[in-house]
Amino acid sequence: MRRRSAPFVAGNWKMYKTLPEAAALAGAIREAAPGAAPAELVVLPPFTSLAEAARCLAGSAVGLGAQNLHWESQGAFTGEISAAMLVDAGCRYVAVGHSERRHIFGESDADAGRKVRAALKAGLHPILCVGETLEEREAGRTFEVINRQLMAGLEGIEDGLRARVILAYEPVWAIGTGRTASPGQAEEVHAYIRGRLAQKTGQDGADCAIILYGGSVKPANAYSLFKERDIDGFLVGGASLEAESFLGIAREAVRAYKEVL
Ligand code: PGA
Repeated sequence: MRRRSAPFVAGNWKMYKTLPEAAALAGAIREAAPGAAPAELVVLPPFTSLAEAARCLAGSAVGLGAQNLHWESQGAFTGEISAAMLVDAGCRYVAVGHSERRHIFGESDADAGRKVRAALKAGLHPILCVGETLEEREAGRTFEVINRQLMAGLEGIEDGLRARVILAYEPVWAIGTGRTASPGQAEEVHAYIRGRLAQKTGQDGADCAIILYGGSVKPANAYSLFKERDIDGFLVGGASLEAESFLGIAREAVRAYKEVL
């Protein structure tokens, strides 16, 4: 039986928060974080606020990450940010292949793989996001799409580094729509992802992998989602923009965690 780990809850701030707003939110999360122990909390502010958020969170247990990166280490890539720059700004995590990157900005499965490898090389933990659209789900293609995104995202990673990759299942139809996947729907895909990891990396690696759910997570649904065996935490968008709802999600996950231990 797989040992559950403490909830991992990451807040994706997307393109929200000016510098003073980001500082205020990071400060409020820092202050309230001990009340959500033993959950692991991470925030992903926009690039412009990373260094400021790092200052606000210094010495706390709240982790910092970015929402995207470029796969090259430096060069003539106007508008892009490298993994080393993120490390420099104080990041330990970086989201890769978020569905908004894939669907609005045309990022490919291969791009996600390149970004995961670049993040690992720089010592970051990539949070690799995968998820099907409503059309793909209704056509019965969910597992095929997840498998394709997963295998491309994990391609070419040395065995020793694979454990540093965090996965996030985010059905596109649930992101920002208020329509959360039911715990059963989410668990079905999480279990599939863990099964594919077991085939690729062995059972031990799969058992230890952190697989987050994302898509309209709120304090009201976090408890029942975390109760599912293969859901290790959450990638939260809208509800991460206020400290109270972000922390509320973490507290609900911890409540479920204590019951499933
Ligand atoms: P949401 O976003 O919580 O607002 O649905 C989740 C995400 O995009 O990571």
